Amino acid sequence: MALTLQQQRINCQKVLPARDVSSLLEDVRKGLLQTPRKLPAKYFYDDHGSQLFDKICDTKEYYPTRTEDSLLETAASKIIERCKPEHVIELGSGTSRKTRRLLTACEQHCCQVTYWPFDVCEEIVREASEHLVDEYQWLDVNGLVGDYNAGLDHLPRIDGKSLYVFLGGTIGNFEHDDGVAFLSELRKNMSSEDMLLMGADRVKDEGILNAAYNDETGVTAAFNLNLLNVLNREVDADFDSEKFEHHAFFNHDESQIEMHLIATEEQTVKLPVLEEEISFSKGDSILTEISRKFTFFSLSSMLEEAGFCLDEHFSPDNNYFSLVLASPT
Ligand code: SAH
Ligand code: AVI
Repeated sequence: MALTLQQQRINCQKVLPARDVSSLLEDVRKGLLQTPRKLPAKYFYDDHGSQLFDKICDTKEYYPTRTEDSLLETAASKIIERCKPEHVIELGSGTSRKTRRLLTACEQHCCQVTYWPFDVCEEIVREASEHLVDEYQWLDVNGLVGDYNAGLDHLPRIDGKSLYVFLGGTIGNFEHDDGVAFLSELRKNMSSEDMLLMGADRVKDEGILNAAYNDETGVTAAFNLNLLNVLNREVDADFDSEKFEHHAFFNHDESQIEMHLIATEEQTVKLPVLEEEISFSKGDSILTEISRKFTFFSLSSMLEEAGFCLDEHFSPDNNYFSLVLASPT
């Protein structure tokens, strides 16, 4: 079947792992057969999980998306003028909803970029690409599907000045050392003239933080519980999501939101592929995500540790969120 003109401006390719990363099955073995139980947050994002995350962004309690979007609305023009990129490469791009601010600024500055959304969820990359080529008639989109934790060496060679974008506060979903290692690896992949635009959520009133991860409509709870459906489908487990509940709270000492799934009753879950069973007592928990909250100091020192220097810092009057533009030192 012939491709439409729009479809001809979309390309989508897999990014092969540049080093060994554990499979879901190995993560399940490591994460669920030992205590404390935990799983990597990347498994939230099957197609349904990605749609649920998008819904979270619209809840009245989840301020990060709106806050970052309004920072981008004000700062995009300045960022594009300063960087003058030929490529915009976005890590964990999801629906690319806020990236439109940058693409619109590119249009205004006659900066004909190619957009490279990189995400672990293929469906969301394809869907976002289709919307974007419709909205921006001049834009070429080269979707990249893979795990950015598996190394960046197998990214396609991209010639020309690039703006790397890492929005949403996703850096907060990494432990400190993993975040520094990830940013350091990214920096090594960048040329001296490339820039990084990154969003990071800030420490604030505990009530506001807790509400953002416990929205009234229950979308965050559904997002968290969807992980059990992913495990049932992908490794043939038999979790009953009715027997777990969502629990999220701000851990002050670690300066992070923690999301857990808590067993509401004693139960045994079968993992036939591993020939194992997991026993849960009532109240047992699986840590499914951390979301670290930064001070300006912790954010700037993480960037410095990873070999970046801070060029611009955008933040609203209430300091709810930071958007930083940084360069490799
Ligand atoms: N940047 C978007 C989406 C944030 S949600 C925003 O600001 O709204 C986090 C995104 O990162 C999801 O789309 C998820 O699929 C992606 N992601 C999570 N872990 C990943 C990994 N290891 N490799 C690639 N993408 C990942
Ligand atoms: C993608 N990431 C930055 C979100 C966060 O806030 O840590 C994921 C999320 N989890 C629950 N709500 C949103």
